[in-house]
This record gives sequence, C-alpha cells and structure tokens, in this order.
Amino acid sequence: MDRLARIEKTLEDAVARGAADGSPPKITEAIRHALFSGGARVRPQLGLAVAEACGDPDPRASAGMAAAIEMLHCASLVHDDLPCFDDADERRGRISVHKAFGEPLAVLAGDALIVMAFETVARGGVASPQRIGGMITSLSRAVGLPHGIVAGQAWESEPDADVSVYHAQKTGALFVGATVGCAIAAGSDPGPWRPLGEKLGAAYQVADDLADAMGGVDDLGKPCGQDEKNGRPTIVAELGLQGAVRKLEMMVRAAADAVPDCNGADELRALVMMQAKRLAPQQAAAKISAA
Ligand code: IPE
Ligand code: IPE
Ligand code: MG
Ligand code: MG
Repeated sequence: MDRLARIEKTLEDAVARGAADGSPPKITEAIRHALFSGGARVRPQLGLAVAEACGDPDPRASAGMAAAIEMLHCASLVHDDLPCFDDADERRGRISVHKAFGEPLAVLAGDALIVMAFETVARGGVASPQRIGGMITSLSRAVGLPHGIVAGQAWESEPDADVSVYHAQKTGALFVGATVGCAIAAGSDPGPWRPLGEKLGAAYQVADDLADAMGGVDDLGKPCGQDEKNGRPTIVAELGLQGAVRKLEMMVRAAADAVPDCNGADELRALVMMQAKRLAPQQAAAKISAA
C-alpha cells in the first residue's frame, strides 16, 4: 500500500470504531466532514517518509502514529475555525464544521478526534509495546503544554506574543510530532529528525501567513485576510510582504538542509520543497523554484 492509502485506511478504521454500537450519528458525520474533506495530508505523509527512511520495521506502528498526527491536525482546524477563535465559515473549499453541524458538535468532534488520536497510537503499537510510551509522549508534546498547539493558540490570549514562538507552537510542534513520532515508531533515534520538523513547520506557517495576506492570488479554500481581521501576530506584519517572501525562501532551504543522512534523503528533500511550494502563494513559489 502506498503512503496515502495507509493513512486513509487507518483513519477510516478509527472512525468506524468510534461509530460502532449505537454511537450518536451526527458527531460521526461531523468527524467525517473534518477528516475527509480534501486535506493535503502533509504531516502524515512526512511522518511515513521518515519512518521509511528509518526502515519502517512495524508499519502498523508508523501508520497509527501518522494517522494520529492527522487527526490532531484536523481537530486543531475544527477548533481554530470556531467563532471564539478565527470564526471562519469555510475550510478546504467547504463549509466549516461548526457552520455545518453547529458549535456543540464542532467542539465535540474536535475533542473526539483528539482522544481518537491517542487510541490510534496505542492500537497501532500492539506489536511494539516498548515504543508506545515514546510515541504518546511525542504526540502529547506536539499538542499540549508547554510548547504544543494549545500553547500556540493560547498566545492569542496574551498581550505580547513573539511571532516565531507562536508559529513554532501552533504549527511547528505538530510537524515535529510527525518526524520525531514516526522515527520512534520505526525504532530509531528521533534526535536527528527534530530539526526537519521544526524548520518545515516554521516555513509552512510563514507560507500560510503570506497566503492569508496576499489573498486572492490563489484559491485557498478558506477565507483570506483573517490574520489582520483577527489582529494576529504574523510574519508579514513583522517583515512586510517582500521580507516575508525572502524569509520563506531561506526557511525552505533550511528545511531541505535539515534532512539527515538517510536512505531516501533526496526524495525527502524533494518532498520538503514540493510542500513548501504547494502552500506558498504563486509569486512566492516562483521565487522558491528559482532558488
Ligand atoms: C493548514 O494546514 C493550517 C496551517 C498550519 C497552515 P494545511 O495547509 O496542511 O491544511 P490541509 O490539511 O491541507 O487543509
Ligand atoms: C494554524 O493557524 C494552526 C492551527 C493551530 C490551526 P491559522 O489560524 O493561521 O490557520 P488557518 O489559516 O486557519 O488554516
Ligand atoms: Mg488561527
Ligand atoms: Mg485560522
């Protein structure tokens, strides 16, 4: 099975488990809307590429870890779109979960996905129980306190936030969870994989800030101009458009350089470049291609 098929199958199996035995039907619909709506699956594909570079001796463990990362990502988007956060009506070119199902089910669908992520790691690790602790810890650090998504989103409720810290926590931490967690799932030392997650995650959020600010250049499938409307700290506000594009070019190169020596290093570097270009607005992407 290719990487995407492994991810989709693991997600489908987890949702089916949650929908079994008389579970309330609408929340499963909301979960399906959140999970299966055209997301690019960047983080789990990165995770599986790392696992393969580490030999991938237990594909159930790596698939469980990668799928869990995607569940947490989708949960973060459902919560991020709520009226109390970014109040967004559209996501991935479709109506957002709270608009389609109401706020109570959106909050609960996000909660359910978070719990499902941890269960999926535990189940995926049955043949490698000695690795489950490390996988759960990397997942927890990616989403919790002090430096995970929750911390990143919490900076929005503080008077002063450092943009790079805010970005590293709300976005970078989950990329680190993908690289580190999947290296652990494959029984490898996760240390060499951390910088790749940090650097790609940071580049990714700079690209997202640019896309949000340059609005109308590409079809984002989500509202643009959100950061200014919501008064968010962004790299564009800090450096201006040109400065942010230059920063993105540097960060993409740094992310590609952070791929450690391994089997398939060239393919991983190409994956990094492709993902950064995919998200960047066209003008910025053209500059990255030329670099
Ligand atoms: C969106 O992430 C949120 C950010 C951190 C920029 P993606 O661009 O990976 O979203 P999907 O999953 O493909 O919709
Ligand atoms: C992305 O935040 C990180 C999350 C925790 C969801 P944004 O608010 O910048 O992402 P988009 O632009 O809504 O996808
Ligand atoms: Mg946000
Ligand atoms: Mg948002």
